[in-house]
Order: sequence, then C-alpha cells, then structure tokens
Amino acid sequence: ATVPVKVTVTGAAGQIGYALLFRIASGQLLGADVPVKLSLLEIPNAVKAAEGTAMELDDCAFPLLSGIEITDDPNVAFAGANVALLVGAMPRKAGMERGDLLEANGGIFGPQGKAINDHAAADIKVLVVGNPANTNALIAQRNAPDVPADRFTAMTRLDHNRALSQLAAKLQVPVTEIKKMTIWGNHSATQYPDLFHAEVGGKVAAEQVESEWLSGTFIPTVAKRGAAIIEARGASSAASAANAAIDHVYDWVNGTDWTSAAVVSDGSYGVAEGLISSFPVRAANGSFEIIQGLEIDDFSRERIDATVRELAEERDAVKELGLI
Ligand code: NAI
Repeated sequence: ATVPVKVTVTGAAGQIGYALLFRIASGQLLGADVPVKLSLLEIPNAVKAAEGTAMELDDCAFPLLSGIEITDDPNVAFAGANVALLVGAMPRKAGMERGDLLEANGGIFGPQGKAINDHAAADIKVLVVGNPANTNALIAQRNAPDVPADRFTAMTRLDHNRALSQLAAKLQVPVTEIKKMTIWGNHSATQYPDLFHAEVGGKVAAEQVESEWLSGTFIPTVAKRGAAIIEARGASSAASAANAAIDHVYDWVNGTDWTSAAVVSDGSYGVAEGLISSFPVRAANGSFEIIQGLEIDDFSRERIDATVRELAEERDAVKELGLI
C-alpha cells in the first residue's frame, strides 16, 4: 500500500480548521487516491476541542484517512510532515499596534518554522493562511534555514477566487471562461487584482469592462471582501478560506498553468528578493514558478509597488523586532 502523506494543520480547532479537515481527509487536498495522516496542532486550551473534531473525523470513516494525531507540541506535529497548513495565528485585537501584532505572531511562526526545519520530511510544503499571512510565512521561512525557501508560501488564492467570481458575475460568464487571473503583493487591503493579464474568451479582461468599474468597484470589492464577509456573517471567511487552501495545495502538488500564490521573490517584476509576495505562478513537478515576461503598464506598476512597499515595511518591522 502507498505510504500516507502526513498533513499538519495548525489552529485545527478554529473555524477554518473545521471547514478544512474533512475535505483533506476525503482526498480533496492531494487527490482521490492519496492516503493521508492528519496531525492537529493546537494551543493547550483548544486541544480538547480538536479532539472533538477528531471524533467527528473518525465518524466519517473516510477510506483515505489512515490516522489522526493531536498535540500542542510543534516538534511532534511537524515530525515527518509532508504538507503543513499554518492556519492558527494571533488575531489583531482592538487597539493593537502593528508592531504588537507582528511580535505576537513572531512568537508563533518563529518556533513553528524552527520545528519544521528540524523535524519535517525532506519534501515539506508549507502554506501559511494565518494573518498577516505573507509576513508570518517570511518569519517561518527565515527560521527554517535548512529547508529550501521555495517550500514556504502564503495564501492569496482566496483573493484570486474572489476576483474570478466578481469578474464572472460582471461579464455574465462561467468562471471557467476566465484565464490568467493574477493577485499581486500582500494578502491585505493593498493587494492588486490584475485584469490586464486576465483573459475572457481569449481577450484581455480589462478591455471588456469600464475602467471606472475596474478601479472603482472591482479592485476595492476584491480587496475588502474579507471585511464585507465579517460585516455580513459576524465571523470571518472560513469555508471559502479552507476551499482556497485546498485549491492552493492541490495545484502545487498536481500542477497548474496559471494561478496566484505568495512565494519567495527572486526579484521578478521589481519585487525585492526574499519577500513573500503574490505573483502569477505555474506549478509543475511539485514546484511553483513565477510566470515571467508580462508587460506591466503604469496603472499596474503603481499598484504593485504600493502593495510590495507594505510587504517591505512589514519585513523591516519584524527584522527590527529580531524575529528574522
Ligand atoms: P479561529 O480563531 O477560529 O481559529 C484559530 C485557531 O488557531 C484557534 O483554535 C487557536 O486556538 C489556534 N491557535 C492560536 N495560536 C496557535 C498556535 N500557536 N499553535 C496552534 N494553534 C494556534 O480563526 P480562523 O477563522 O480559523 O482563522 C485563522 C487565521 O486565518 C486567522 O489569522 C485569519 O485572519 C486567517 N485568514 C486568512 C485568510 C487568507 O486568505 N489568507 C482568509 C481567512 C482567514
């Protein structure tokens, strides 16, 4: 029989965890023929709740689920891990300064990066979902010097999927008609959803919508969608975030011609080397590769620069705090 893939999920007892674990166990993360072993990492206070979720996972009798481990020790959770979904993070509380937020998350993602460095399997792939996702990923990556940097990624796939859905509704086409959508930069309100490279029916998407709609409606709707969900639901996006995490890892492992993911910059498109920034990427043989050679006009340049500037500021802040 095939050796099961060990998938570690942090923040397993949270709302994204609840929407994510059952889909992983059913085979949607890696493929319908790949057995998985789940490791649930939680803080001590939430271990009992994670045990409850594990009872429900048992009760599904998933044919592909070969075992579940529950722990509050990152060294145990990441031991032999092949895929790590870092979902648990410290949320911004009222009145919290950015420095406090980054420091609190450094206390989570630094040790987790080190545990991945010391204990994960050689083929480890890491997706950071917990916010601020790009900079948490940077902290984890810098604390894992023995792991190839390109194994650390952060999630902008939810933003990508939101952009697809908004554009499909505007043009009244199925989402499958849209190709080459791209999210650039930070998973934050400064992100830049780019319609100048997206194509609908083989033609540039930006030319099929009014420029007023593009800059006045589309970009802010995608960028502020998270806040709109909180406003409507009274809780942040969970099922859609879990769905995007599934999409991100599935495509990373199984390949794709074009999607959006935050990956370590090699300096492409003027994004400072080392930042974990969202780019248009393709995936083959288990690696993401930044799609090269796109022409960037002034409109896009200005917006890419602004979101990348924010990433550089976050990097400088965590450097100053001694977190990287
Ligand atoms: P939640 O608050 O329901 O769950 C978070 C869980 O993480 C809690 O069970 C908590 O005990 C756990 N946790 C905290 N510190 C931990 C640690 N050191 N180790 C292990 N577990 C730990 O939050 P939810 O809704 O599940 O969201 C999780 C994160 O995902 C948040 O940071 C949220 O902002 C982020 N998010 C990111 C999105 C993206 O597109 N990148 C989209 C939606 C949410």
